[in-house]
Amino acid sequence: MSVDDRNAIYLRALGEIEQVVRDEPDAIARQAVIAAILFRELNLIWVGFYRLEDNVLVLGPFQGPPVCTRIALSAGVCGTAARKQTPVIVPDVRQFPGYIQGSGATQSEITVPLVVEGGVRLILDADSGEIDYFSQIDADFFDRILSALGEHV
Ligand code: SME
Repeated sequence: MSVDDRNAIYLRALGEIEQVVRDEPDAIARQAVIAAILFRELNLIWVGFYRLEDNVLVLGPFQGPPVCTRIALSAGVCGTAARKQTPVIVPDVRQFPGYIQGSGATQSEITVPLVVEGGVRLILDADSGEIDYFSQIDADFFDRILSALGEHV
């Protein structure tokens, strides 16, 4: 997929997501629809949210196969992104120390945190069956999607 194609997909998805956020105040309902939109638009194995509760990431709305429900901040791609409060792009999950397997088909992964008032509230995570599927474009759009949720998460 070209950079232009991916930008176009995200811009369309973002418009749809902003409409959902305008129309639906419930945090779970919003996240559920966002996961469904991203799953439909991108070629993903899994996409969804974990929220930070008492220093543990707890599974939220998602699309794809069942995965672990709790992730410590010390563990995995998700824990790393939450602990460092920064997006993590993993081109090849087999090369990531401490990687936690979601689906056996996953080859690459991206995790982007939503930071509110200095603390991580939520992360948006996606897995692809292609090596090196994600780039800074995805990180930037995931950040825009999380920002659209504001502080009501
Ligand atoms: N691979 C993740 C675990 C979550 S699933 O991919 C959804 C990690 O290493 O944190």
